[in-house]
Amino acid sequence: MSSDLRDQFSRPLRDLRISVTDRCNFRCPYCMPKEVFGPDHAFLANPQLVSLPELGRIVRAFRTLGVEKVRLTGGEPLLRPDLPEFVRLLKAELGLPDVALTTNGWLLEKHAPALRAAGLDRINVSVDSLDETKAGIMNGLGFSVSRVLRGIDAAAALGLPVKINCVVQRGVNDDELLELCGYFRERGHALRFIEFMDVGNTNHWTSDQVMPALAIIARIHQQWPLEAIGPAYRGEVAARYRYSDGQGEIGIISSVTEPFCKDCHRARLSADGKLFTCLFASEGHDLLGQLRGGMSDEALTEFIANIWRGRGDRYSDERAELLAKKEPRAKVEMSYIGG
Ligand code: GTP
Ligand code: 5AD
Ligand code: SF4
Ligand code: SF4
Repeated sequence: MSSDLRDQFSRPLRDLRISVTDRCNFRCPYCMPKEVFGPDHAFLANPQLVSLPELGRIVRAFRTLGVEKVRLTGGEPLLRPDLPEFVRLLKAELGLPDVALTTNGWLLEKHAPALRAAGLDRINVSVDSLDETKAGIMNGLGFSVSRVLRGIDAAAALGLPVKINCVVQRGVNDDELLELCGYFRERGHALRFIEFMDVGNTNHWTSDQVMPALAIIARIHQQWPLEAIGPAYRGEVAARYRYSDGQGEIGIISSVTEPFCKDCHRARLSADGKLFTCLFASEGHDLLGQLRGGMSDEALTEFIANIWRGRGDRYSDERAELLAKKEPRAKVEMSYIGG
């Protein structure tokens, strides 16, 4: 099996994002609005989730096909009790060079030491606002941002590189960009602003709620001059800028105004073991079903390779056209396949 696998647009498969649970303790309205994800919402049941040995087999197949980076996501990945064991498996047994975690940070202070000990390489934490009231609105349930910030400090104190993700929603937190930059500049964490995206079908996305990347940059540049720098690796989703005064860097993830599908080498695995070849896909491919049906490791690798060869996804490139047609499109929810 070769690692020169390419999809329909010659894109290799390098990066696997694994959602380890579809549950989350937050209810950010842009992701899991509480009116939709209420107390009676049917989340996946435990037997439906990929187990540790199954995950090992699936990731080994992806490794054969060229995957070098695994990111653990959710829902909220820290809700999964066996997460440190997942990390140990990925690092010690499968030898992945880069294992990262994307979390809302609420449980981070408690779990950072075990994750670090298991070999986790780095961590991305969501912080949309430093203002308690606004942060509470943006996580849907009034959770305090100060606890998230303590989690970030705890992870950093253990030597884990931390990046911050901030979804910018016009009219909600776009007045706070400079405060956020100031806070994270001082602490040396790269802060990435994410354009509000039309993922899933429940977040009531409209284009007027998107603050375009250029406007974000312009506002920050007025206060702290910025210089564009190249990507840290090919296909990086964030466009990077450094502060001219040498105080660190920021990133902008502009899936709406400047899509990056051309270099997209990411595959996503849902918590119930389905492979999605785009964040905006409608359907997944049931890898776990195949495994539980008795498929061999070799056949699984070939099964994934065939899916990748046929991949033609480029939703963000096509978004404007598709939205203009006004045809409703079923899109999977981000909490289910991970961000
Ligand atoms: P690094 O490995 O640290 O560069 O992080 P990352 O950007 O891969 O991961 P992270 O989970 O922090 O993602 C940040 C944001 O980028 C999230 O909102 C993701 O949904 C978004 N994002 C990541 N990959 C894609 C993608 O393939 N397409 C789109 N449209 N958005 C993506
Ligand atoms: N648009 C942009 N980013 C989003 N995220 C969740 N939903 C959206 C959305 N609709 C972000 C989270 C987290 C990352 C994984 O994805 O805030 O930082
Ligand atoms: Fe949970 Fe993250 Fe979605 Fe917020 S964005 S509801 S923290 S999965
Ligand atoms: Fe990749 Fe789909 Fe995002 Fe484009 S929209 S970058 S193809 S995940």
